[in-house]
Amino acid sequence: MGREIATAIQRWPALIDHPCAPRVTAVCDINPAAMEWFEQLGTVELFTTDFEELLASEQVDVVYIAVRHDLHEAMYTAAIAAGKDLLAEKPFGIDLAAARRIVQSIEEHPESFVRCSSEMPFFPGAQMAIDIVRSGGIGRVIEAENSFWHSSDFDLEKPINWKRQARFCGEAGVMNDLGLHALHVPLRLGWDPDRLFAVLQDLVPERPDGQGGTAVCDTFENAQLHGIVETEEGGFPLSVSMKRIAPGEKNTWTFRAIGLEGGVEFSTKNPKQVRVLTSYTLPGGGVEQAWSAIEAGSQSVWPTVTGGIFESGFSDSILQMWAAFLAERAGQLGDRFGCVRPEEALRTHEIYASAIRSHEERSVVSV
Ligand SMILES: NC(=O)c1ccc[n+]([C@@H]2O[C@H](COP(=O)([O-])OP(=O)(O)OC[C@H]3O[C@@H](n4cnc5c(N)ncnc54)[C@H](O)[C@@H]3O)[C@@H](O)[C@H]2O)c1
Repeated sequence: MGREIATAIQRWPALIDHPCAPRVTAVCDINPAAMEWFEQLGTVELFTTDFEELLASEQVDVVYIAVRHDLHEAMYTAAIAAGKDLLAEKPFGIDLAAARRIVQSIEEHPESFVRCSSEMPFFPGAQMAIDIVRSGGIGRVIEAENSFWHSSDFDLEKPINWKRQARFCGEAGVMNDLGLHALHVPLRLGWDPDRLFAVLQDLVPERPDGQGGTAVCDTFENAQLHGIVETEEGGFPLSVSMKRIAPGEKNTWTFRAIGLEGGVEFSTKNPKQVRVLTSYTLPGGGVEQAWSAIEAGSQSVWPTVTGGIFESGFSDSILQMWAAFLAERAGQLGDRFGCVRPEEALRTHEIYASAIRSHEERSVVSV
């Protein structure tokens, strides 16, 4: 992910009138070979295998940290204590206890601005869908769902790596890996499940160890969380699912909300298209429900030089996430959609812990 972020920063001039002008000035990895790629940027003054040396650098104001989940707490809290601003990676600590300690460290160092990475809602189509819901245009919500599906683990011969081992990825497994992507928008819309029932599946108990043997693969591959969101108007079901084994899906993020006055759906499977449900008056009279397909174009949270009619993709969503992060850090995001806040990341861990409890007790649990 480090290379993806550095590439987005190189495209910064695409943003119109952004308050910041970031440069990648330092890179750290314990594997020196992983840093070679960054030499071509021409802006990096410090290459180091020592994270403390990076934190000591006065050339660094903001750090982005993408490491194994078991390393999050130590590295995030060190960055925060060093007075750096931080765009952290999900799941924001390996478990609920780690996430709580990270949030505590932020409270002890309020000068440090911290958000967590989640880029999929920055697709223009996702923003259009979010704005429609925020406007109240779909009326009282009947039901909503958000999902993030991969199929990379469908290959049972794929050797084990840290993301498939609970001691590195966390007991929550796929929820730690993909859950924040599927919960960012619901939580930002205020759709926080009050109780839930979870179906967690450990579909692949072992994998090749890459050395001719096998290794235990003790993480959940798929998770489906069926929650109830209580509102003043009454409750509605919120379904959130994350799958590493969703055959046929490569990196599919889908958001769908249906209300009494309309509905909206966006999926990265058709990234140009937003589907909107409205009541439609027929030319000869009479009213029917109709799904319309609207093309989203290129513009997302922060305006760019790209013509409005052009297509947007994954790397554009990364640029927009960073534009939102640095604009909010500069106090200039306004009411535009922002990155995941620490309290939202913490809430996702409370949701995962409840999902594990629901799975173990085979029952509906409060969150
Ligand atoms: N936002 C997204 O779409 C997205 C996508 C992939 C991964 N991620 C997240 O990014 C994080 C990393 O995942 P990944 O797939 O990039 O992992 P990875 O294993 O490919 O990369 C991690 C890197 O960290 C380095 N590292 C380990 N210990 C270090 C230390 N003490 N100091 C400096 N560097 C160290 C490793 O050498 C490695 O190069 C995870 O939290 C993961 O969930 C996010």
